Amino acid sequence: FSNATWTAVDNYHDEIYITKDEACFDAANDASQAAGHPPHNVTATQGKFLQIICQMIKAKRVLEIGTLGGYSSIWFAQAVGADGQVVTIEVDPERAELAQKNITKAGAQNVVEIKVGKGLDVLPTLPTDHLYDVVFIDADKINNQHYYEWALKLTHPGSVIIVDNVVRGGHVIDPTTNELSVQGVRAFNQKVANDHRVTASALQTVGAKGYDGFAILLVK
Ligand code: DHB
Ligand code: MG
Repeated sequence: FSNATWTAVDNYHDEIYITKDEACFDAANDASQAAGHPPHNVTATQGKFLQIICQMIKAKRVLEIGTLGGYSSIWFAQAVGADGQVVTIEVDPERAELAQKNITKAGAQNVVEIKVGKGLDVLPTLPTDHLYDVVFIDADKINNQHYYEWALKLTHPGSVIIVDNVVRGGHVIDPTTNELSVQGVRAFNQKVANDHRVTASALQTVGAKGYDGFAILLVK
C-alpha cells in the first residue's frame, strides 16, 4: 500500500465520518490553497479527531499555536461551543487575515480570537489566570520545546497538549538529519522524556498528508 491508498482511505473516511455541515469547513482550505498557503492544514478526519478529544474532556478553552488558514481553529470552535474560547496564534499577518475571513464564514468569529505575532512573543502576553484545557502545537517545529514549556505554564492538571507532525515521514529517527524541523521535534521529545509533569504518548499516522504523527500529553 502506498500514499495513494492512504489518501483514498482518507476520502472514504471523509464520506463516512464527515457530515455535510463539517465538509463545509473545507471552504477554508480551498481559500487557503488559492492564496498559496502551504497544504499543512490538518485533514478533516484529523480535525474531527482533535474536536472529539476536546469534547471528551469538555474543553471550553483551547489554545492553538499556528493558525495558517484557520481550518483546525474552526474544528476547535465547534468543539468548545458558543460559550467557549479558542485563542490561535499566527505569525504571518496575511495568513491571519485570510484565517479571520475563513473563521467568520464558518460562523466561529465570536469564539476564535487570532493573535498575530511570533508564538514566542505572543505566549508571554497571555494571562495565566485564564488557563487552557487543550493546547494544540502546530507551528514552526524548531520551537516545539519552547511552545511546550509555555503550554505547561498555560494549562492545568487534566489539560491535554497535542503536538502535530512529530514523525515527519520517519525522519524523526534520523540522527544525522540537518532538517531544523526534525531537530525541533527531537528536542521536544527529549524534553518530554522522563518529564514528571505529564503523561505522554505519540501515535504515527498515514493519510492524505503522508506519513506523520501526533504526540498527546496529559498534564498531571
Ligand atoms: C509542515 C507543517 C505542518 O504543520 C504540517 O502539518 C505538515 C508539514 C511543514 O512545515 O513541512
Ligand atoms: Mg501540522
